[in-house]
Amino acid sequence: MITEQATGRFSVRVQAVRAEAEGVVSLRLAPVDGGPLPEWHAGAHVDLHLPSGLIRQYSLCGDEEDRNSYRIAVLKEPEGRGGSREVHESIRAGDLVTISGPRNHFKLEPAGSYAFIAGGIGITPILAMARAAARQGRPWHLSYGGRCAASMAFVDELTELPGGTLTCVPQDEQGLLDIPAIVQETPADAAIYCCGPTGLIDAVVSCATTLRPELPVRFERFSPLAIDASGDEALEVRLARSEKTLVVPPRISILAAVREAGVEIESSCEEGTCGTCETAVLEGIPEHRDSILTAAEREANDVMMICVSRCSSGRLVLDL
Ligand code: FES
Repeated sequence: MITEQATGRFSVRVQAVRAEAEGVVSLRLAPVDGGPLPEWHAGAHVDLHLPSGLIRQYSLCGDEEDRNSYRIAVLKEPEGRGGSREVHESIRAGDLVTISGPRNHFKLEPAGSYAFIAGGIGITPILAMARAAARQGRPWHLSYGGRCAASMAFVDELTELPGGTLTCVPQDEQGLLDIPAIVQETPADAAIYCCGPTGLIDAVVSCATTLRPELPVRFERFSPLAIDASGDEALEVRLARSEKTLVVPPRISILAAVREAGVEIESSCEEGTCGTCETAVLEGIPEHRDSILTAAEREANDVMMICVSRCSSGRLVLDL
């Protein structure tokens, strides 16, 4: 077992870099000490710590039963914040890279069958889910939309998975996925799992709420939720292990205040989409503003993303 797992970060070697589709490369990451790699399940992601210092999250899209390698896939986003460009332009087979995780905020819960909906690079966690469903013998259908056929990764691999069906909708030939029809046709015993751009997720959630409110819908966003911070007030945060009490003013995140107080905590997106800053809550009621936690996790109130979330009880005690 990799010893660095205890610290959450460890080195892996880039075993292979492969072009999967237009603008998409996959990296196969292998243990440097012979492994095995930490266990993961469909929906999990790792943080990739890039040489520039950027940290980016990528869903694991290989086989969860393969403990000797992880696979991630990265879409080059020329207008992005630089992480995907760095992966495409700088990382080569043979390089050592640092990762942390895996973490899973998008677990595949038991269901009679699955309706998967993926847009673009959102296929990565869904590919692992389709493989898991196939392995469990659960029927599945995947509706997969992309800009054009050449940009849609892993189609051959998906086609070969047993027990399910795949509908590919390249936008330049067929337009957008027909979300109302997909939702209407979802079997009664199915759970819907969706990953892709914000517009796709919003459409799926809205259609399911209106047309099939009985269906469970799970999704993973790449973009943050819109937050109205205009009514924010100062809050008191007690850091139990560090024995410090902070007053966090409006417009300053708890994360920033914690760092200002000299307490180290890792972060990445700082917009509530990655889960890196997840912190255990010992007392108080968080006001969750992330786009990761499920409704049940929000209600449990035992963890929060301190980069965006605040507090509705005036005072929080955190396990920091
Ligand atoms: S740093 Fe990404 S959720 Fe807080």
